[in-house]
Parts: sequence; C-alpha cells; structure tokens
Amino acid sequence: MRIAVLNGPNLNLLGTREPELYGTTTLDEIEARLHEVAAEIGVSLVLAQFNHEGDLNDAIHALGGRHSAPGVAPELRLRADGVLINAAAWTHTSLALRDALTGVSLPYAEVHLTNIFAREPERRVSVLSSGARAVLCGFGAQGYELALRGLASALRAGARK
Ligand code: DQA
Repeated sequence: MRIAVLNGPNLNLLGTREPELYGTTTLDEIEARLHEVAAEIGVSLVLAQFNHEGDLNDAIHALGGRHSAPGVAPELRLRADGVLINAAAWTHTSLALRDALTGVSLPYAEVHLTNIFAREPERRVSVLSSGARAVLCGFGAQGYELALRGLASALRAGARK
C-alpha cells in the first residue's frame, strides 16, 4: 500500500513558526516519525510539501494516475492508494484541491496540528472535509501518526473515500 503525505504552505516552517500554536517539532521530524510508523505497519510512503497551490494540484493528479505536469517530482508520479493531507491555509479556501482529490478518486484523510474548529472564525471551515474519509485535528505533531494509522486501516478495509 502506498500513501502520500502532502503538506501545504508554510508547514516547512514548523519548529519555529508560531510555536505556541504549532509546537516545536519540525516537518523533518514529523516525516522521520511517519517513516518509522510506515515501516511498522507495512506502508510505503511518499512525502512532499508545497508552497504553491498549483504544484500541489498537479501532484494530486499525478498521484491519482493522471497525466502529470512536467514539474511534478518523479516519486509523485507513481499512483497512491490514499493521501494524508494538511493543506494548511488552503484548507479554508481551496475548492480546487478538494476537486482535484475527488476528481482522481483518491481517498484522503485531513490532518491539522491545531483544532481548527476552536480557532478564528475563518479557520473553522474546511472546504476539504466534506470529501474526506476522516478529519483529525488538535493533537499537534502526533496527529500525523494517528491519522496515518487510521487511514492505512481504512484503506486496508477497502475504503474508497
Ligand atoms: C493548520 C491550520 C491552518 O489554519 C493554518 O493555516 C496552517 C496549519 C494546522 O495544521 O493546524 O497552516 O492546517
């Protein structure tokens, strides 16, 4: 089973970005832990972070087995069985990303470090969640691990969404 872990804008700054909200764990550390969990549960992982929305959109198409734009990294051109996504600020704005994920029929789980439903009004809406298999938020960096385990189980059980 192959799962793509996709992170949106500014998550490359984790570790030093607003640590009182997002903690001090870096994205590299999160990814290193996900590799350990993936090895434990027998999942192959591909991980990527994007600061440009169109690049993430292109990567989703490629992971869904569609024609990929020239800029898409080779490891993202192999079809994935599911996606774990923290779309960061695009969570609240990007119908395009939801359309991309549902348009290529990639089951996905949404993860956030913070509890977005307990934050500023503009962050309490996720335009991705209606298409998601699951949403997990508020457990900080550990949420990625929990969500990966949950998504892998759901995919093993045959989840199509
Ligand atoms: C976030 C929450 C978003 O509102 C914010 O824009 C982020 C991170 C989270 O993980 O808590 O960049 O997705």
